[in-house]
Amino acid sequence: MAAGKKFIVQSNWKMNKTFEEGLAYISAIRSAEPRFLGAVELVLCVPFTLLKVLAGEAPGIPCISMGAQNVHWEEKGAFTGEISAAMLSDAGARYCVVGHSERREYFADTDERVQWKAKACLKHGITPIVCIGESFQERKRGQTLAKLEYQFLTCFEGFTSQAMENTVIEYEPIWAIGSGHVATPQQAGEAHHFIREMIKKYYSEATALQTRIIYGGSVKVKNVLEMTQARDTDGVGVGSDSWDVQNFIKISETCAQRVSKRKAS
Ligand code: PGA
Repeated sequence: MAAGKKFIVQSNWKMNKTFEEGLAYISAIRSAEPRFLGAVELVLCVPFTLLKVLAGEAPGIPCISMGAQNVHWEEKGAFTGEISAAMLSDAGARYCVVGHSERREYFADTDERVQWKAKACLKHGITPIVCIGESFQERKRGQTLAKLEYQFLTCFEGFTSQAMENTVIEYEPIWAIGSGHVATPQQAGEAHHFIREMIKKYYSEATALQTRIIYGGSVKVKNVLEMTQARDTDGVGVGSDSWDVQNFIKISETCAQRVSKRKAS
């Protein structure tokens, strides 16, 4: 684990939750916080409408960081329906998911746009959580690592070492998202290790150590322990199983215990 950085447990709310539901979620985390042993950082990626108000609650709960789920790459202007990194930062976002496969599939996010978006985040002090990963067909054809390398080189083109270290890379195999088919710890570990080696190759060993790599795709209460054991894993990203706060608390507790054990050994 990178020095000074914590294991991430990310919750992606997607297009879910009203104001009242969001507040109830945060309040449940506040009560459960002592159980996380200060070992993990809970990153809540919420709808834009909830960001500012929930970020206002978060300072009293040190384990929580607020995040958004998308951003536009331009600073400002006539982009109806879009939101800028400056606005997200102003609303209290410390993280932003970029290049989620649902954005790629339904809203035409390309690897190049992902790169622009990630750079816009970094410019405004927001840590981009950049999602990369292969489709089922690509995995079947043995193209997983080639796809990861292509995405790595395109999404992070022009990144300095410092930018890389301030980025979180989320390995999200497309076939695992929302499908209930989680990757095996071996599959996730192989991808994470490959990504870590690419950072070493194109940057340095120090940068590779400082950059957090997390796994997302059908992580659930029932499988999170094994996913934390995958090689080179600095966190997990959870979608549907985290929408129920009690599940998210259980997942976070499992991660916190695992991380504390790892440190002790
Ligand atoms: P899932 O979603 O956990 O429902 O598969 C993961 C994600 O979209 O980040």
